[in-house]
Amino acid sequence: MAYVIIGASGGLGRALADRLAADGRKLVLVARDPDALSALAGALRDRHGVEAATVAADVAQGAGYLDEVARTARAAGGIEGLLMPIGFAVRDGIGTTPETMRELGGVNFFAPAEAVAKLWPDLVAGGATIVGFGSITAARGRGRNFVYGAMKRALLSYFESLRLAARGTPVKVQFWVLGFLDTDVMKTEKTPLPKGDPRQLADRVVSRMGRDTGITYFPGWWKWITLALRLLPWAIYTRIGGRG
Ligand SMILES: NC(=O)c1ccc[n+]([C@@H]2O[C@H](COP(=O)([O-])OP(=O)(O)OC[C@H]3O[C@@H](n4cnc5c(N)ncnc54)[C@H](OP(=O)(O)O)[C@@H]3O)[C@@H](O)[C@H]2O)c1
Repeated sequence: MAYVIIGASGGLGRALADRLAADGRKLVLVARDPDALSALAGALRDRHGVEAATVAADVAQGAGYLDEVARTARAAGGIEGLLMPIGFAVRDGIGTTPETMRELGGVNFFAPAEAVAKLWPDLVAGGATIVGFGSITAARGRGRNFVYGAMKRALLSYFESLRLAARGTPVKVQFWVLGFLDTDVMKTEKTPLPKGDPRQLADRVVSRMGRDTGITYFPGWWKWITLALRLLPWAIYTRIGGRG
């Protein structure tokens, strides 16, 4: 059986692919850039001797690519895991163009939800674990990234409902709320708190495959910061950085 990774060529996607390949898992890797995907699949085959298929698609352009994902995964024996470390962020705000808003919604919210909807029969048949990734950006309203944050909050709500809906089926659900991660997109960003290691996160995610773990924060201390941010009275919240 195979693990489908949507957003496989990014920092976290690569770490997950490498960790799963080290365990000898078959992979179906999805992202836009076919060259990056081929290079990743080739490296995983060389390093770990695993089967790694690729599906190059822009998920913001519709869910048609999922037919190929389903066919490829069925050829590998079915779906054991659906991991979706996909994401797209810009410094969006009130003046964000409709096109960028749609892309932010398409990549961060609709793509994961569409993948679950379309692959559901295969996910049930495989007793798969579905893994989604949110962001601490969605903890509370902010002065920037607010379409991205809104989509990640929508995704968290979706995963909570999915977890309920999956009860009584063999499907397991995990949702990880992530603080800053030390991936390529964050290399030059100065962050107010330390960045988490994507390989350490990949280890944790893979070690919990087959379990219904609900919502988990990474690094774990973000759980308490998020709780504190939510409890702060609005007037104080806006003064300590809610606008940033
Ligand atoms: N890095 C952080 O500090 C941080 C913090 C909080 C939450 N997160 C979340 O953690 C997850 C992983 O983050 P990351 O840093 O590893 O992200 P990343 O390096 O930007 O990787 C994103 C992945 O999504 C793919 N992707 C983006 N747009 C796509 C599209 N339209 N169609 C198909 N694939 C697309 C990218 O590949 P292509 O460009 O080739 O398509 C890449 O494989 C994301 O959900 C992100 O929102 C990250």
